[in-house]
Amino acid sequence: MHNILFASSEAYPLMKTGGLADVSASLPAALKELGCTVRVLIPGYPAALDTIKKSRRRKIAQLTIRDEPVTLWQTPIKGADVTFWVMECAPFSDRPGNPYQDPDGNDWPDNAERFHLFCELTRLLALGQGGVNWTPDVVHCNDWQTGLVPALLHDHPERPATVFTIHNLAYQGLFPAEIRHTLELPETFWHMDSLEFYGKVSFIKGGIAYADQLTTVSPGYAEEIRTPEYGCGLDGLLRAREAYLSGILNGVNYADWNPQTDPHLVANYHAGDLDNKSVCKQDLLQRLNLHAGSTDQPLLGFVGRLVEQKGIDLILDSLPWLLKQGCRVVVLGSGDSDLEQRLQTLQKKFSGQLSVNLGYDEALAHQITAASDLFLMPSRFEPCGLNQMYSLYYGTLPLVHKVGGLRDTVFDPSEFTMDQANGFSFKEPTLESFQQALRRALTSYQNPEHWQSLQANGMAGDYSWKNSARAYKDLYQAALNQISER
Ligand code: ADP
Ligand code: GLC
Repeated sequence: MHNILFASSEAYPLMKTGGLADVSASLPAALKELGCTVRVLIPGYPAALDTIKKSRRRKIAQLTIRDEPVTLWQTPIKGADVTFWVMECAPFSDRPGNPYQDPDGNDWPDNAERFHLFCELTRLLALGQGGVNWTPDVVHCNDWQTGLVPALLHDHPERPATVFTIHNLAYQGLFPAEIRHTLELPETFWHMDSLEFYGKVSFIKGGIAYADQLTTVSPGYAEEIRTPEYGCGLDGLLRAREAYLSGILNGVNYADWNPQTDPHLVANYHAGDLDNKSVCKQDLLQRLNLHAGSTDQPLLGFVGRLVEQKGIDLILDSLPWLLKQGCRVVVLGSGDSDLEQRLQTLQKKFSGQLSVNLGYDEALAHQITAASDLFLMPSRFEPCGLNQMYSLYYGTLPLVHKVGGLRDTVFDPSEFTMDQANGFSFKEPTLESFQQALRRALTSYQNPEHWQSLQANGMAGDYSWKNSARAYKDLYQAALNQISER
């Protein structure tokens, strides 16, 4: 049985901007089921501190890191079966809003200093020097915000094993060269085999170059990131470390995402009886004033960050055509102001058929997942993607670009047997290829028998954490064996 310190910049329900938060709560809970003792460490953003004030939080350490007073809180969270450690300190705790960016979408100017502090606390806790009477066997770090941890620990003789998970290689934590002096990083890090990346300091390279084991969040993405096309300039280093790199598919937390129990839905349903799925659809159409067209036309949903990665441009360019076919479309998301504006312009033009909802809304995300017939994910790249798995489990057919985790989870009837097929996919991220898949989906929708068998396959799939959590546990053991052999 292992003690795991799981460090992440977000974890649901304390802070969430995307799938990293879902994984940082649900994987630790699944590891706990397997007998691991897990502490999930996250920065104390104001919203997170507010939430834990209402829970049975307990101060477990008080220390000073680089002149900043730090308080470490331990707290259970209702509904999340895991113990959180929350780092209260001014650079995080005095900064409301998005953890990484200001309201105009610019990175906070002191992100390097802020996440370096978070890494320093993680390092101290890893070594049993954080003032807490608990030491981990393994430190599991996630994405660039924790990338310095494996680097800072690597040459310590008495350190725990380190595992680094890449949730998205496109976000690298790149900072000007001088930051290495400000942060007093060892000069040995200033090297192309270490943190240096084309004249900048790269936080993510700390994880990739130094962790005992590297993972990413699907087998498909684990292959792709070793190629120049998807490697974001790091494919060479990833190939050099491929003996230690594996792809482990994310899972779904059925306690939060289950159509049978989902408290956000007007009516619950299950694979054996989908009548209430139609009730959810009618309810949402009415609430969002989507009345134009006849009710037996398909509703298409999108939920996600409005960024280039998600292929929103393909949706935007297809909207007039889709709406002409009689479809209704609902979009929920926030992100790039340009994409937000283009969506709003179309919304004005097509009111009654298109509903654009800007902002973050957990309940609406669940309602769209349940109410839609098709769920659109034309992502240019997708390390794993959770929404397509939520959709499958909710009897909503995903239509995806065949890439990363999407190609590991969505199986198109043109390539798979009708026992296996569960959605639609297209190979090239072009308008033509996307619209061809849309046409096939709309044809299938007119053929209830075909559609229902795809739905049934989707709902019968196992998207739980069971197998993946076991794979992580084996990987922890492999990392421990590696360091004991040193
Ligand atoms: P990514 O992590 O790249 O954003 P994922 O598919 O892994 O993509 O996870 C996205 C998660 O964030 C899902 O749980 C999704 O429902 C949620 N989400 C994204 N945008 C919103 C939003 N505007 N409102 C509510 N939930 C959202
Ligand atoms: C990232 C990826 C997404 C993945 C999530 C959780 O944000 O973009 O594909 O599902 O992390 O691992």
